[in-house]
Amino acid sequence: MGDAIEAFEHGLLQVATGHQATFAACVDEATLRAASAKLIGPSGELTKLLKLMPSLPGDRRKALGQRANELKREVTASFDARLSALVQAARQADLEGPAVDPTLPGRSLGRGSPHPITRTADALLEVFASIGFEVTDAPEIELADFNFTRLGFPPDHPATDMQDSFFVRGATSARFEDQVLLRTHTSNAQVHVMSSRRELPIACVSAGKVYRRDDDATHSPMFHQVEGFWVDRGISFSHLKGVLTTFVKRMFGASVPVRFRPSYFPFVEPGGELDVGCTICRPFDEAGSDAQRERTASCRVCKGTGWLEVLGCGMIHPVVFEHCGWDPTTVTGFAFGMGIDRIAMLRHGVKDIRLLYENDIRFLSQL
Ligand code: DAH
Repeated sequence: MGDAIEAFEHGLLQVATGHQATFAACVDEATLRAASAKLIGPSGELTKLLKLMPSLPGDRRKALGQRANELKREVTASFDARLSALVQAARQADLEGPAVDPTLPGRSLGRGSPHPITRTADALLEVFASIGFEVTDAPEIELADFNFTRLGFPPDHPATDMQDSFFVRGATSARFEDQVLLRTHTSNAQVHVMSSRRELPIACVSAGKVYRRDDDATHSPMFHQVEGFWVDRGISFSHLKGVLTTFVKRMFGASVPVRFRPSYFPFVEPGGELDVGCTICRPFDEAGSDAQRERTASCRVCKGTGWLEVLGCGMIHPVVFEHCGWDPTTVTGFAFGMGIDRIAMLRHGVKDIRLLYENDIRFLSQL
């Protein structure tokens, strides 16, 4: 039994005489923590001694236990003191070390750029401005009167249905004309400008957001259009053809052909659609060659037709003039409207319209 006590006391003595020098020799926090674990960690020397306590003879146990616990407090205190000295020294070394070099180049912020839809809208407006059109704005939150009725939409037209357009609650009257909605097209610009001006000529383009209840790979509930119209005495379909052909040549290139097809819109008569030669498979470049015919046949953008629908157009309907306070027997005009998103998709070869709205910089920075 005497041996056990001797060994115990010897152990205590070793820890007691060695710990300060051991800690003092540690030059960083990691080695200090490792050294402390060797003494008072779960399998440290002092911890092992404390575990032996129950096997010591009862009469000595109390005094030895007190010494062992006292020693554990000492070791902990000398560890704490050394740790704070090391932290302090590290801080001091930082402060006294080399200063920040203000001449190092900074981290630059990525430079932003306009969204591809904004760029396309600007390019479209610029072409029309160069022909002499004035750029105007029209509201996105609109009365059914300006969006539909004055443009000659019959009351039962599908677009006027609650299911097809976004109506805004809060109209004070039950009359259809007084209902408020998110405009379904930029043609409301025609009504605003023609109703508020009394001088000729009027030649305007207006671009902006429009809203419809549609949502798939090629339709978004919010998209963008440009509307244009020219009103004066003696405006004819040849003016329409001249202006829109010039637009296509400037926007898509001089070699791109156009064709007009008859079509129906309530606010024009006659009405039509304008197609441009497909800018992806370009059948007009070497018309007639077998290779070209094959390229067009397999073109997924024009679906093998060689043509792309770009816009709706026509001569402004007499009813629209009357609704806006103009005499259709003395003034005439033409109007057109086109989707900006579709043209942006064609310009950049984007297949899913939703990519344009997700604001993923990895996608947008490629366009
Ligand atoms: N507003 C029509 C639409 O959203 C586009 C349109 C067609 C505008 C013919 C016009 C036009 O000015 O003459 O589908």
